[in-house]
Amino acid sequence: MASPLAGLPDELAGHQVSQGASSLVLPNGPRYPRIVQAWLWLKKPTWFLDRCSRAYGDVFTMRLPMGINMVHIARPELVKAVFGGDNDVLRAGEANATILEPLVGPHSVLVLDGPEHLRQRKLILPAFHGDRMRAWEASVREITRAEIARWPVGQPFALRPSMQSITLDVIVRVVFGVDGSARGDELRRRIRTLTAIGRNPFLLFATRDRRLGPHAPWARFIRARDALYAALTEEIRQRRHAPDLEQRSDVLSQLLLARDDEGRTMTDDEVRDELVTLLFAGHETTATSLAWAFDLLLHDPRALGRLVAELDSGASEYLDATITETLRVRPVIAVVDRHVRQAVRIGGHAIPAGVIACPNIYLAQRRADHYQDPAAFRPDRFVGQAPPAFGWFPFGGGIRRCLGASFATFEMRIVLPEVLHAVTLRPASPRPARIRREAVTFVPHDGARCVVTGITDQRIAATDFADHPPA
Ligand code: HEM
Repeated sequence: MASPLAGLPDELAGHQVSQGASSLVLPNGPRYPRIVQAWLWLKKPTWFLDRCSRAYGDVFTMRLPMGINMVHIARPELVKAVFGGDNDVLRAGEANATILEPLVGPHSVLVLDGPEHLRQRKLILPAFHGDRMRAWEASVREITRAEIARWPVGQPFALRPSMQSITLDVIVRVVFGVDGSARGDELRRRIRTLTAIGRNPFLLFATRDRRLGPHAPWARFIRARDALYAALTEEIRQRRHAPDLEQRSDVLSQLLLARDDEGRTMTDDEVRDELVTLLFAGHETTATSLAWAFDLLLHDPRALGRLVAELDSGASEYLDATITETLRVRPVIAVVDRHVRQAVRIGGHAIPAGVIACPNIYLAQRRADHYQDPAAFRPDRFVGQAPPAFGWFPFGGGIRRCLGASFATFEMRIVLPEVLHAVTLRPASPRPARIRREAVTFVPHDGARCVVTGITDQRIAATDFADHPPA
């Protein structure tokens, strides 16, 4: 039988502790009532995290309603230990399922643990192989240019919704394999409806009681989700019989062809749940990271100038450094969750079963011992310099590391230069956007507002802008 203190290497063990989970003591943390901590975590997340980190150090406990205890971990060695720990003891699927399962379904790679999780991961991963992604490049460029052509000239507009439109089109086109047809429009409409409801953080903690009536957020959410499920199931059924299935490069077709170690394919429900997972794990995260990159760049003319000059010369080192630095200083997902099944030691702390261990991306990536002037946006710090191990993990880690990390980076490496090549932009406000929470993500409070001041891509100037005069 596994030790109740299993899951982490011995060198991280503190004092011998009693093995009865109830006798273990949680790391220190704020003493406000749980409801106040929940409010701060939802409404003032960065202020709350910064404050806790100053007051309690690298490991602290946040106490939330319904007996939820989150142990935040911001020291790289401990983060490494959690990511490398025993996955039967530190369960990501279980932790994710609490909030995400109603959306992504029971077969989603996000909510599974153990062998079922590994099976789904192995079935999905090959669809994001570098060679396959290269086939999507032209589509991503085309989608980006079409979106730029809709931007108003000389008037402030928010970049984030526009980036969401790009990444949504990319998912529909290259993940679902549906192009600009009526079916594509229907999918986009259903996704937008569901996303708009899911943005309401009320859904995170509110009762999921349908008795609140058909207009309650939860009931509306279920209706919108089922409508999307139905559209995806129809797409899956048709695609199974597509004559060109084997030649297609989209992810859905790859998922239908994939076979596990026993030669089994995925069922329709499994494929549907993975499509919903890729959609919701991949579209807003990438769009928001792009919006942050523009917000930071436009407020830093020196970095912007250097990036544009390097792109013009055909180099991409500064582009990569800019993406790395954006993901560091503005991580879209601030923490990843592992449900602790048996008591574990983390550093000097004995963590009881039942809590959620949270490697804290936001805090670990702002450590003054790793980064000079840690809150500042400085892409130069990553020029010729890799990020420190476990001091940079915007995509999580271990066997749960983001399945779409290279896809997200691939998209950002195309969209950023396309935009900077096509138009000149200035920020709509003098200061960078504040970080605001939206559901589980950290987003720019004003959507990253900017103004198009000039059109530098003559193809867009000659055709598209003329066809779509500014709103
Ligand atoms: C900048 C964009 C993105 C960020 C910051 C991001 C971040 C993350 C993080 C923090 C996790 C949790 C990892 C953990 O628990 O250790 C995750 C998981 C995941 N992400 Fe992403 N992600 C991004 C884009 C994408 C894209 C484009 C896709 C696919 C189209 C995707 C698919 C997934 C999936 C399937 C998982 C679950 C992996 C598992 O549980 O095994 N993500 N992502």
